[in-house]
Amino acid sequence: MSQNDDKPWAGRFNEPTDAFVEAFTASVGFDRRMYKHDIAGSIAHASMLAKVGVLTTDECKLIIDGLQDIEQTIANGEFNWSTRLEDVHMNIESALTKKIGEVGKKLHTGRSRNDQVATDIRLYLRDEVVSILAELKRLQVALVDLAEQHVDTILPGFTHLQTAQPITFGHHLLAWFEMLMRDQNRLEDGLLRINVLPLGAAALAGTTFPIDRNYTAQLLNFDVVSENSLDSVSDRDFAIEFCSTASILIMHLSRFSEELIIWSSAQFDFIELGDCFCTGSSIMPQKKNPDVPELIRGKSGRIFGHLMGMLTLMKGQPLAYNKDNQEDKEPLFDTIDNLKGCLKVFADMVPNINVKKDNMYQAAFKGFSTATDLADYLVRKGMPFRDAHEVVGKAVAFGIKQKKDLSEMTLTELQNFSNIIEPDVFDVLTLEGSVAARNHIGGTAPKQVKAAITRAKKRLG
Ligand code: ARG
Repeated sequence: MSQNDDKPWAGRFNEPTDAFVEAFTASVGFDRRMYKHDIAGSIAHASMLAKVGVLTTDECKLIIDGLQDIEQTIANGEFNWSTRLEDVHMNIESALTKKIGEVGKKLHTGRSRNDQVATDIRLYLRDEVVSILAELKRLQVALVDLAEQHVDTILPGFTHLQTAQPITFGHHLLAWFEMLMRDQNRLEDGLLRINVLPLGAAALAGTTFPIDRNYTAQLLNFDVVSENSLDSVSDRDFAIEFCSTASILIMHLSRFSEELIIWSSAQFDFIELGDCFCTGSSIMPQKKNPDVPELIRGKSGRIFGHLMGMLTLMKGQPLAYNKDNQEDKEPLFDTIDNLKGCLKVFADMVPNINVKKDNMYQAAFKGFSTATDLADYLVRKGMPFRDAHEVVGKAVAFGIKQKKDLSEMTLTELQNFSNIIEPDVFDVLTLEGSVAARNHIGGTAPKQVKAAITRAKKRLG
């Protein structure tokens, strides 16, 4: 009797597996987290086999009851996972046979671990995408709420991190909302390709049993069944796509984090993050570090890395299933875990941002942020834009020398640069006048930000 006898594939083997190889090839250490999905897939498969007459109703009931018991045992933390049994699938199948006897051995009729694992990953990822969407929504709502409180809070808008033009903080926050909206769309769209049933492809070519794949799909809430058995067992596009969507999303969170970090520095001092989202320094008593956004920025590295890992994993594989595919799980799971964590902490952090309106306003006042407004004013009075640009450039040079903002110059001083300037110029040189003037869809005017918030709420549903 070979020492492999407890393994479902032992028949062909004469010698036991090398101990290190056994550990090396096992995936149960990480794929056991899909146990619920594995059991759901098995229950649907058994039900389908009963429907087409491959299993009797009694056999099917025994199998389903046994699987449900096992699920409970696992949930209670009382299941004995064995590396010898390689993966979640064989652990559960072998426990089933131990529990209900010979009938347990019939469960694997007309399927293979190849279509089984592809099904499990899809079921698992589908659930995770739904919970990621829920966390994402919390963050979206938090952003819109904060934007609503800052419809007319003014801060400098930057290009090249140099003061460009005054903007409203609500408008700035809604820029983040737009990015997250696209992330939401990408996640939802990806669900269409996740939600396809591969079960029935068996090892690679299909099965000789009269299976009813549409029935299995219906039981598992899949929209459709996959078209090609070879593709079904080897396709991981949906997981790569998810990693790509996750990468874009974490890239957004990383950019957002970068702004929060800059803004909470003493040099900017635009915001203060709540104490519960920061840590101190063990040596510098004055320090309050923005660890949470820093860590989120840092986590983008591993998530981008997993996308590259998944693409590389697939690029050399001939059809159909290869053991390489077992390497899809850890990067996928790590992406899910970290993305969910980042979204959760971000959604909790946003309402705890203390906005320092006065500092923002003072900063917008520096750096000649209304220079474009003066140029636009001259254009409205008939000057070609390029000439206006030149005139304002000279006024700014004068302001730098005199340490005076454009709005602080006298009318006579301004008229030295162009005699078409009149007293109404001061309406456009104020920060409030500047933002209010950008009054069209997509513009920073408080009126537009209010309207954008109303639309954002509608889009969130
Ligand atoms: N643990 C394997 C995986 O994750 C399950 C499928 C194994 N199939 C096989 N023929 N070795 O990919």
